[in-house]
Amino acid sequence: MSRMTAFPLLFSPVRLGRLTLANRVVMAAMETNLADPSGAVTEALVAHYRRRAAGGAGMVTVEYACVEQRHGRGSSIQLALDEDRLVAGHARLAAAIADQGAVACLQLHHAGRQTSPRFLDGRQPVAPSAHESWMFRTTPRALDDAEVEALVGQFADAAARAVAAGYAAIELHGAHGYLLGQFLSPWTNRRDDRWGGDAQRRLAFPSAVVRRVKAAIGDRPLVYRLSAEEFVPGGIDPDEAAAAACALVAAGADAIHVSTGIAERLDTNVDPIATAEGWRLGHARRIRRALAGAAPVIGVGVIRSPAMAEAAIAEGSADLIALGRALLADPDWPRKAAAGRVAAIRPCTSCNWCIQRLGQHGGIGCAENPAVGRDQLDGPAIRTNRPRAVVAGGGPGGMAGAVLLAEAGWRVTLLEASVRLGGGIDVSARPPFKDKLLWYRDHLVRRLAETGVDVQCGTPADAAGILAHDPAFVLVATGSLERDGEVAPGGIVVPAYDVLAGDRPLGPGPILVYGGGETGCETAELAAAEGWTVHLVTRSTARQLARSAELVYRRTLLQRLHAHPRIELLAETRLARVEGDQALLEGPGGARRRIACGQVLLAQGRRPADGLATAMAAAGVPHAVIGDARRGGRIGDAVNDAWDAIRGLPPA
Ligand SMILES: Cc1cc2nc3c(=O)[nH]c(=O)nc-3n(C[C@H](O)[C@H](O)[C@H](O)COP(=O)(O)O)c2cc1C
Ligand code: SF4
Repeated sequence: MSRMTAFPLLFSPVRLGRLTLANRVVMAAMETNLADPSGAVTEALVAHYRRRAAGGAGMVTVEYACVEQRHGRGSSIQLALDEDRLVAGHARLAAAIADQGAVACLQLHHAGRQTSPRFLDGRQPVAPSAHESWMFRTTPRALDDAEVEALVGQFADAAARAVAAGYAAIELHGAHGYLLGQFLSPWTNRRDDRWGGDAQRRLAFPSAVVRRVKAAIGDRPLVYRLSAEEFVPGGIDPDEAAAAACALVAAGADAIHVSTGIAERLDTNVDPIATAEGWRLGHARRIRRALAGAAPVIGVGVIRSPAMAEAAIAEGSADLIALGRALLADPDWPRKAAAGRVAAIRPCTSCNWCIQRLGQHGGIGCAENPAVGRDQLDGPAIRTNRPRAVVAGGGPGGMAGAVLLAEAGWRVTLLEASVRLGGGIDVSARPPFKDKLLWYRDHLVRRLAETGVDVQCGTPADAAGILAHDPAFVLVATGSLERDGEVAPGGIVVPAYDVLAGDRPLGPGPILVYGGGETGCETAELAAAEGWTVHLVTRSTARQLARSAELVYRRTLLQRLHAHPRIELLAETRLARVEGDQALLEGPGGARRRIACGQVLLAQGRRPADGLATAMAAAGVPHAVIGDARRGGRIGDAVNDAWDAIRGLPPA
């Protein structure tokens, strides 16, 4: 990596125990669901980490690996290292990382109460105390003394296997409310024995694990990942975390990795889009001060720009910077940053499409980087004969598809009916707290220019116009149209989509939003944020609001909606009709209500705008329909559709 760099601290070497890392960028552990069902390493997993390591991070931390699969698995598919048969796969994984010049680190983990009997062949989860997990809808069984002692040994055994596999460093997953954190936390450790009862005894299990693991790994560095605040009443607070960090370093940890949160507060771990950049650095700074140089501190959490990472080191918040999702969206973040090519970084927007995929038990993916989770596959075939392609639609799928085609050697024309590029991204970015999405739009616009795509805005993509280009391939990314509902647009009744797209003004109020899906909820929040009184009307129950939204985002969105003084929620209520400025509603049990409104915004769903597909089929032109033109979805669905379609094209 270049010695001349715009970020000299970030790209300076750093000591970690007896190792020296080439720079201070660490890839944070992120589960991928790419292991096989028995917990073994797969080729997809090796390819995933090889690609991340090739991007230039000083150390790459492999996702949480289970030290005891009978009770410790945290998900249906999880990497493991609790048996000798698993060592060979890990050896391939560690070598793939080291071959790219990064230090290979493995995170060791036991889920404790944060798992479900579904992942444990029906067995009841175990924990320090029988403290219910509402998230997993289960109450664990309290471990007995001998079981706790045995677990210390199981962490050490897994660490010894990791050394045999060739990992150069180990991280203990003591954060995010898993077993190690459960022992430390007064919220989950209600014991009164040598493993709990006061702060000193709550430290006994994590300290014992640190000592035994350290003994098992010799002079390799041991990182301890800690939640510096759990954000639940009675959970670990920053003072307790600082004291624990000092004790864990005294027990043998070579670095403290400062994260936050537990399963009940996932929003403080895999931060949703609304969360401010770098907000956890204050927690890291506090622990770094308490450690007073006894061990380096790794800071993490929504660190997206090299400038923020550099400043965090300069200000003394952290010695190393861990990047999670930023390295999914762009594994070359470190190399680009080191070379000062900051604008070239594909920016993670915290959209959490990746998390949503894991929640649905799929392999890891990224909204912006479709190769994630499939790095073992070849990308789109390169065309040397420069065939012509037309992309119809300048939303996220169309823009990303046009860039992919151009990168693969096609001569690409992109036709967009509106006067500007953006489409669905602009619509999604309009509600409060979602402006990070515009980073991605701006990135795509830049890439379109760099790859020489002929962008024609203000040009509706009709069949004749497309065929005039004589394309060898057409990507239909024409988005969606308003679905016909019981109440039609007209007068004060306007599709919410048109307002979000900026095609129609918002207001005047009071505003009635009809539809309790994600769009309806977000539109209600937007209208309230702009000062209007809002009636959010949905035929569904209140529990079903925004039900298809990503889990972490949904929870924070609903909290804000319910707390907003200007939003009235009318659930199980139908909008019968609108007469002048009066909305006529039918509530539960047929109760009727009349509300005076300045505007009624319809958020009743959209349907694919896929008419061009028929025309292209009739003309015999090879084509693919993607994104909302195929089926309603998120930005990640459209972009990944584009990759699938282009990758699936037959070779020239
Ligand atoms: C898909 C995904 C999987 C994750 N899996 C783990 C994990 O296995 N172990 C862990 O300690 N943290 C895990 N995390 C949390 C990340 O390590 C990181 O702390 C978090 O994403 C915030 O950092 P970021 O904003 O740089 O992504 C995961 C996060 C994501 C997005
Ligand atoms: S899916 Fe979204 S949040 Fe996840 S890495 Fe990609 S851009 Fe970031």
